[in-house]
Amino acid sequence: VNKPSLGKGADGNIGGKASLVAVALGARSYNILVGPGLLLECGARLEPLLHRKQVVIITDDNVAQLHLRTLIDGLNTQGIDSETITLEAGEQTKNFSALEKVVDKLLSLKVERNDLIIALGGGVIGDLTGFAAAILRRGIDFIQIPTTLLAQVDSSVGGKTGINSRHGKNLVGAFHQPRLVLADTLTLETLPSRELLAGYAEIVKYALIRDAKFFTWLEEHGKALVAGDERARRHAIVTSCMYKAEIVAADETEQGERALLNLGHTFGHALEAATDYSARLLHGEGVAIGLAMAFAFSAELGLCSADDARRVKTHLARAGLPTRPQDIKGATPDAAELAMHIRQDKKVVDGRARFVLVRGIGKAFIKDDVPESALVDFLSRYGS
Ligand SMILES: NC(=O)c1ccc[n+]([C@@H]2O[C@H](COP(=O)([O-])OP(=O)(O)OC[C@H]3O[C@@H](n4cnc5c(N)ncnc54)[C@H](O)[C@@H]3O)[C@@H](O)[C@H]2O)c1
Ligand SMILES: [Zn+2]
Repeated sequence: VNKPSLGKGADGNIGGKASLVAVALGARSYNILVGPGLLLECGARLEPLLHRKQVVIITDDNVAQLHLRTLIDGLNTQGIDSETITLEAGEQTKNFSALEKVVDKLLSLKVERNDLIIALGGGVIGDLTGFAAAILRRGIDFIQIPTTLLAQVDSSVGGKTGINSRHGKNLVGAFHQPRLVLADTLTLETLPSRELLAGYAEIVKYALIRDAKFFTWLEEHGKALVAGDERARRHAIVTSCMYKAEIVAADETEQGERALLNLGHTFGHALEAATDYSARLLHGEGVAIGLAMAFAFSAELGLCSADDARRVKTHLARAGLPTRPQDIKGATPDAAELAMHIRQDKKVVDGRARFVLVRGIGKAFIKDDVPESALVDFLSRYGS
């Protein structure tokens, strides 16, 4: 497998403002472009991928109001026609009935095997659209135009698509890689700050998994990034995509290394479940708490220094993210409940929780044999 490459302006002569990350997956390889104004340039970017000049855009009602017009204008510059399917914004849209609605509409619009559909929105729209593309006529192409920071650094890259079921989140889905990802940094300007911070937690995650220098960079530039500095945002998005691309290229279907991307997520998912996936806790906020906990737990197990654990917690808190279950509004989820959710987590193998732990900042690894007693003990004390 080729390593993903990174090149500024390496995307030829169109615009030239965008940075490029290549995802090397053989026949399923694709590019991620990151930069300001990509929505308006999308016509030229898409043209080479189209068999005929028409596409279907799938989006949600928030994003439709803010960014759909720009995308349609961008397509129009190359004479590309579009139809739009607009769904209700929110996690509850990632379900069977919305999927059925989308698939049915795509068929009534006579979308063919060689056509292409566009996901314009956050992770909800990206996951649902990707899954619809995976199953429509046994698989059609789609492109991701992520408009949340979380989607730009995480969900739009790597080909995991799917919906939730009443049995749990993301339990129905498929691996289906997009043909192209266009991350327009201008779209982030309309993103509510709480959503932006949630995405920032995933950026911190990449640094903590494998790049201590990137973490130092974030300590220095995180504040500017959150405040709106386009260059800082772009650098962080490109770096994050590069790491995700590398990990996905090495392990597309999560047989091993890809599990590292779950750093902070075992705790985070337990917290999300304990708060009923409600607006009390966004996914990225759960990840922020989970990252602080994964470091604290690692320090307690003697795997990493207490100093690193403190640094991580301080950085997340300074950015404005929660770092303890006690920081969640309302009743604090209790330790026994968290332990139960962790046991039920899909990553539990033979009753032993599989954790991504750390030997320090930038040194994540997978530990299969975390004793249940140490976990329960840690949970009962953390944060209080
Ligand atoms: N496929 C993967 O690998 C992967 C990885 C991580 C997360 N996910 C999934 O992603 C989803 C979360 O994604 P998300 O955080 O993007 O949530 P989201 O799609 O619900 O978007 C969050 C909110 O922001 C709004 N929004 C989107 N873009 C906006 C913009 N530019 N300006 C203003 N508002 C905007 C949306 O309408 C929504 O209300 C979850 O379902 C999660 O399971 C998937
Ligand atoms: Zn995540």
